[in-house]
Amino acid sequence: MPAIAFTLNAAVVCLLALAIAAPAALVGVPRRIDFADLPPALHRRWASPQEFTTYLDRVVGDTSRRVAEGEREHLIYFALQSTAFTSKPRLEPALSSKAFVEGLSPVERRRLLTEPSFVPSAGWPAAERARMADLVDAIASTPADPRVAYFAQLLPAGERRATVDALFPDYVRVARFLYKKEFEATDAAQVAELYRTRAHSSDTQIEAGFGVYTGLGAIHAVDPALRVRSVLVVGPGLDVAPRTDLVDAIPPQSYQPFAVADALLGLSLAAEDALEIQSVDINPRVVDYFDRIGQAPVLLHLFTGVPEDPAAPFSDDYRAYLRQLGRSIGEPAAPPPSLAADRRYQRSIQVRPTVVRALTARRMNVVTERIADKQFDLVVVTNVLAYFGDDDLALALTNVAAMLRPGGYLLHNESRGGLVAAADSAGFMTKQMRTVVLGGTKERPLYDTVWVQQRTAKALAGRSATPPAIARLTLSRSVDTLTRRTGRPLRGAT
Ligand SMILES: C[S@@+](CC[C@H](N)C(=O)[O-])C[C@H]1O[C@@H](n2cnc3c(N)ncnc32)[C@H](O)[C@@H]1O
Repeated sequence: MPAIAFTLNAAVVCLLALAIAAPAALVGVPRRIDFADLPPALHRRWASPQEFTTYLDRVVGDTSRRVAEGEREHLIYFALQSTAFTSKPRLEPALSSKAFVEGLSPVERRRLLTEPSFVPSAGWPAAERARMADLVDAIASTPADPRVAYFAQLLPAGERRATVDALFPDYVRVARFLYKKEFEATDAAQVAELYRTRAHSSDTQIEAGFGVYTGLGAIHAVDPALRVRSVLVVGPGLDVAPRTDLVDAIPPQSYQPFAVADALLGLSLAAEDALEIQSVDINPRVVDYFDRIGQAPVLLHLFTGVPEDPAAPFSDDYRAYLRQLGRSIGEPAAPPPSLAADRRYQRSIQVRPTVVRALTARRMNVVTERIADKQFDLVVVTNVLAYFGDDDLALALTNVAAMLRPGGYLLHNESRGGLVAAADSAGFMTKQMRTVVLGGTKERPLYDTVWVQQRTAKALAGRSATPPAIARLTLSRSVDTLTRRTGRPLRGAT
């Protein structure tokens, strides 16, 4: 009996230990939202809880399709631009699209541009087909290149010979998007419209960090006592194969969580040993990158998405940002030979293990899910909200508000009309909006915007229906005016 009593006691102790340990292990787990999570202003958009459930199911289905299509589009961009698997000349995707679309008969061209799933009878252009065939061969031969190896996983085994033709509809989708964006759209509003339904892209560049750094500087100026311990990055991205200017001399990297850590430490907004930066993304490939980085020392290679052009130089502020980027999270390291001579290359950073350990990631859709058991001090979302329609944006903002502690800050770069009102409905006070110019000419600046929004302490139900007038004024004066002129919003690069 004593033995049994001991065993039972031991079991109780173990169960107690598990009961104590389990909640800690589960903190930060996303859960799907339901109708009861919505603030009253959003209840009106869906007639009933059942209608809301149906809506969320549709978002989940659309998101899976858009992620899957996006992965195949990255494959097309890689096939056209990479020199890792072929010696054939690189093809610029936008120029390839132009030649393809303009080479179609008038009837097919009109159908391509107006019918989202129309596939012309023409088939692959010759040079594009030859590159894709080389990639398919490389995929079949146990590839060492990490991107080719990833695309090998993506394509169904056994069907790879037939795959060149099977990928033609993906090339057509790429051509339709690029043609409309680069050659048909006459203003930023039309480009923005394309983003709301396009396939999901995981593209990311260090450029996105400049607005975030500027926004954090603004927060520091108005709230000098703020100490940030927990950050949520929504959609950090991973640079597998962008639609232009592919750099594949080094394996895919993510930058934003590193850049946020760098900015917080550099601005003395956080202490390294007390900082955690969690990322969430709908793309498993992005989450997988963060799951793996803890397994070896991280050497981060920093390079701009576009090279500095003497005729359209970087701004002084952006140059100053680039000069210090990465220096607060590690030590400069020797450049990889493959990148050293590239004009876009800035520096390599051996990231300190404490910083790497602070970075984690999970799969989560910010439109349909939220982390309900944790509130962050800061949420950063750049080049993500552009992919959402207005209802999805409202849900995402509501979820972000729920994941922020009262007084916590949201930084993003989405400037559509109605943004301030949507943020107000979700429980945010708009504190600042800044336009940051990265470079370019006076007539055609390359710019980004950064919004600083603070979660109000008020209960969500008690918010005003009218957004603050000053924020509206900022929106219409700066963003709309710049956008209507000939500036290039940075979002165009992702
Ligand atoms: C264009 S990348 C931007 C990456 C980075 N934030 C930047 O600015 O460079 C968009 C990222 O957001 C992710 N994403 C898109 N929709 C999302 C959603 N509903 N929830 C979470 N992540 C999302 C994509 O998978 C992708 O990794």
